[in-house]
Amino acid sequence: MDDIRAVQWSNQALVLIDQTELPTTETYVTCSQVDDVVDAIIRLVVRGAPALGAVGGYGVAVAMLQGERENWDAARLESEITRIRDARPTAVNLAWGVDRVRPMVAGGVDAVLAEADRIAEEDEAANRELSRRGADWILANTTTRPLRILTHCNTGSLATTAWGTALGIIRELHLRGDVEEVYADETRPLLQGSRLTSWELTQDQIPHVIQSDGAAASTILRSLVDVAIIGADRIARNGDTANKIGSVSVALACHAAGIPFVVAAPSSTVDLSTASGDEIEIELRDGSEVTSIGGVQVAPAGAQGFNPAFDVTPARFISAIVTEHAVVHPSAESTVDALVHQEAQ
Ligand code: MRU
Repeated sequence: MDDIRAVQWSNQALVLIDQTELPTTETYVTCSQVDDVVDAIIRLVVRGAPALGAVGGYGVAVAMLQGERENWDAARLESEITRIRDARPTAVNLAWGVDRVRPMVAGGVDAVLAEADRIAEEDEAANRELSRRGADWILANTTTRPLRILTHCNTGSLATTAWGTALGIIRELHLRGDVEEVYADETRPLLQGSRLTSWELTQDQIPHVIQSDGAAASTILRSLVDVAIIGADRIARNGDTANKIGSVSVALACHAAGIPFVVAAPSSTVDLSTASGDEIEIELRDGSEVTSIGGVQVAPAGAQGFNPAFDVTPARFISAIVTEHAVVHPSAESTVDALVHQEAQ
């Protein structure tokens, strides 16, 4: 399980598996200029909050190397680094990754690369640990065996530096023999579920079906699943959680059906400086992604698309938030605080 590396550093450049081409073609994009990095982030060649954290770190090294080649002054380097930081607004990990390596810029490219490597290593370790904690919590809070699990978007190796978050928990449960079937939401408009999650589940031989996003609430209310597990792009101080558009509909259905709705993320996705979901900027993408499928126009010519890429699930609809440090029911800010501290349980 899991030899996929979505984000790598090789030959003085950032190398990304091109997630826009999966599952039909496995190709790689090499980023040796800031424009390449920004373009890859915006086009979702690389996507998923924890993967974007690593891209933020390595992206600073790309900017420094380009700056050396082109004799940039310090102000130009700063503005190019900020361009990477701001390429997508909702996942806090991108800005977090850039900010984490920024103090190392004075120490040179090798110092930045060493810190970016640490981000990647820590992310994998966090994902493996949160997967164990999440699996334990789910087994303690459900009775059906094996489990039928619903997930939304892609949260596996492709969305992280390795292993995955919500999909990491599913992998862990599968290893323990506790997965009957996964319902993978297709995740319109860009189909991260049917293209990417199904690709990863297929490689791991985890039984699954792909359903349209519109089927999710009905599947839950018909008692066809026992638990829903999703990832996160930003978890606010009060536990409100931004994730892929459609996540809140899954949460509301779970609430109505009385089954657990679990959010899984490394602590790097918890943003204690954001008080609540109201403060989270939701990326608005081009409407053409909605009026077309796979690049083929399906709506009448001239029809306008509305394309928010994320939504916010209020904390009261979340049964548990899992990080590598803790599993908490987000009932108070103090409990969310526990998600980022080593000693917390
Ligand atoms: O637009 P995307 O594909 O970057 O959105 C990704 C998600 O919403 C994921 O669920 C989230 O980033 C967590 S990935 C472990």
